[in-house]
Amino acid sequence: MKKTATLTIDGNTYELPVLEGTEGDKAIDIRKLRAESGYITYDPGFANTGVCKSSITFMDGEKGILRYRGIPVEELAENSTFVETSFLLINGRLPTRKELNRFSVMLNDHSMVHEDMRHFFESFPRGAHPMGILSSMVNALRAFYPELPEEEEEINVTFARLLSKVRTMAAMSYKISRGHAVVYPRYDLTYCANFLNMMFDSPVRPYVIDPDVVRALEVFWILHADHEQNSSTAAVRLVGSVRGNIYAAVSAGICALWGRLHGGANQAVIEMLQQIHDSGGDPMPFIERAKDKSDPFRLMGFGHRVYKTYDPRAKIMKRMCDTILSKLNRKDPLLDIAKKLEEVALKDPYFIDHNLYPNVDFYSGIVLRAIGIPVNMFTVMFAIGRLPGWISQFREGQHDPEQRLFRPRQLYVGDQVRHYVPIDERG
Ligand code: CMC
Repeated sequence: MKKTATLTIDGNTYELPVLEGTEGDKAIDIRKLRAESGYITYDPGFANTGVCKSSITFMDGEKGILRYRGIPVEELAENSTFVETSFLLINGRLPTRKELNRFSVMLNDHSMVHEDMRHFFESFPRGAHPMGILSSMVNALRAFYPELPEEEEEINVTFARLLSKVRTMAAMSYKISRGHAVVYPRYDLTYCANFLNMMFDSPVRPYVIDPDVVRALEVFWILHADHEQNSSTAAVRLVGSVRGNIYAAVSAGICALWGRLHGGANQAVIEMLQQIHDSGGDPMPFIERAKDKSDPFRLMGFGHRVYKTYDPRAKIMKRMCDTILSKLNRKDPLLDIAKKLEEVALKDPYFIDHNLYPNVDFYSGIVLRAIGIPVNMFTVMFAIGRLPGWISQFREGQHDPEQRLFRPRQLYVGDQVRHYVPIDERG
């Protein structure tokens, strides 16, 4: 027998269907509620609102579980590559060797950026934030590739083009921002090695590819590859729901990711750790500020809408800080401060009561610093990593017969009707 929930308002009873996901998630289906009762539900920030059914990513915020297409993120971080994980997210299963090779060739084939796009790049003012540049450039891709294909094979080319070109454009924007010559992608390099080479190679100092650095980047991107209905993915799905094109949708995702409460937190964390370092290294004043409700300051890299325990990505990222720094034989004073801050915060009743733990952004900046990524590129690194997630979520939405135009309701609390007063009669 199908389960229902009963809602009684003003003596009227409504039976609402109950839905259950494959991992036991429960939802009350309110799609007909307004039509039948005149009521809407009120849920600022959509914290209790399921906007779609999805088979891409599973998260359990209480237990700290994250799986892509059923596979634990820990297993992927240990064994997979970013390209293989992207295939998994987009196609719903791990590729065969032949499919993976084909996918890699496709990424290489579409890695170049149209030379005319360089003129756009060069017109941005020096000092423009790379996230603003990237979102504009991704939207501009639509002008260079206007045909939005319908054939499956061609759709896959569009996805490969996005994955490959966004990475090239990110490296290109960095080179141009520094006034350096652009380095083109190389056919003989893997996706991650190619990115590092495009970022750091130069005629005067050829970049030497270090497999440990490549592996660190693979893991960084795997950990960011998808995170179900987060803010930027919701933006991507929203643009998809109005039948917007995928470039516009991804561009919207990049804009949403830029914010400091979302992907922009990775830059904000490093800036905060640097501030603690510059003020003598004691995290206590910052912890006190974060607890003070009259101060808007928050501990960046702490807290999450879904995780009420340690973010599983942060656990891996923390371990990776130690691994990559020791492999590179380096020390980073900001890592010591981060660990101290975490230790103190996790014992503090405010953080315990509010279930505030480190999230993915808390340690990720230390890894990025170690591999040479400049701070203003941190959120761009998150965006490249999130691309396969955005693409899969966009595609899933397009194929979902239940997906409707995203159009929330509101509770109007403004003036009741009043009439226009001519300007000379206003007091
Ligand atoms: N420092 C201090 N207090 C906090 C923090 C924090 N980082 N995060 C949440 N709180 C408090 C908040 O003040 C509120 O307290 P109270 O109930 O007493 O008024 C309570 O916890 C709930 O906060 P909220 O803002 O209602 O929770 P949310 O689910 O809307 O916010 C969040 C989630 C991630 C925006 C928030 O935790 C935050 O601002 N964290 C810092 C920014 C950050 O690290 N963002 C990266 C998120 S993970 C990467 C990603 O996927 O984007």
